[in-house]
Amino acid sequence: TLAAVKDQDLGGRSIVVTAGGTREPLDPVRFLGNRSSGKQGVALATAAAARGATVTLIAANLEVVPPASVTVVSVESARELRDAVMEAALTADTVIMAAAVADYRPSSVAEGKIKKETQGEELVLSLVKNPDILAEIASSKRPEQVIVGFAAETENDPEKLLELGRQKLARKGCDFLVLNTVGVGVVFATDLNTITVLNRAGHIVAEAAGSKVSVADRILDVLL
Ligand code: CTP
Ligand code: CA
Repeated sequence: TLAAVKDQDLGGRSIVVTAGGTREPLDPVRFLGNRSSGKQGVALATAAAARGATVTLIAANLEVVPPASVTVVSVESARELRDAVMEAALTADTVIMAAAVADYRPSSVAEGKIKKETQGEELVLSLVKNPDILAEIASSKRPEQVIVGFAAETENDPEKLLELGRQKLARKGCDFLVLNTVGVGVVFATDLNTITVLNRAGHIVAEAAGSKVSVADRILDVLL
């Protein structure tokens, strides 16, 4: 049937999806993290596998369980995620960077637990910038490869949000950018999402709202 054909419309494709949020170690027991649950990335990986793609999910501290239909590579920090995605990208047709990657990490990781006794009333952390993984894969991609970024913004004005998206797209050099608005309880950790997809030229090629599962299918439709 027609439905069965559409079901396998990503057959033969190899897709890498990053999901979740990185954790940057401070000492053996602590890290700096973010509120990403990994739900949107896992929904993308699940939908792509259901449509016939071979999927590698680079999973950073997921709060949801990925399906058995995808190959999972577990990572913790941004630098671990970078190494895993660079390797997986070698054989991928498409890389979707849905993970929330820490922009900065502690300049040094304490060997032992940081103790109050030695810190006193104030503890100042020093952070250094992490590599921009999306920009790196976009600049080193093969011509036929499709690289997709996500943009997490806290801007509520739709025009300003679009402008931020277009600037980010240009900075990253990716083929598509999925724009959404984030904030505590707005997108992170919920089952719903509202997205706008921009192509390389900055034009809107899709808009979708609904469950992260339905949004995942719309994003894959655009990539097809
Ligand atoms: N990203 C990445 N490596 C980083 C930071 C972000 O690959 N070190 C990716 C994310 O996975 C996402 C895209 O870049 O696909 C945009 O992430 P975002 O945090 O929205 O953008 P930044 O460039 O980090 O800018 P800022 O956080 O300052 O808005
Ligand atoms: Ca960022």
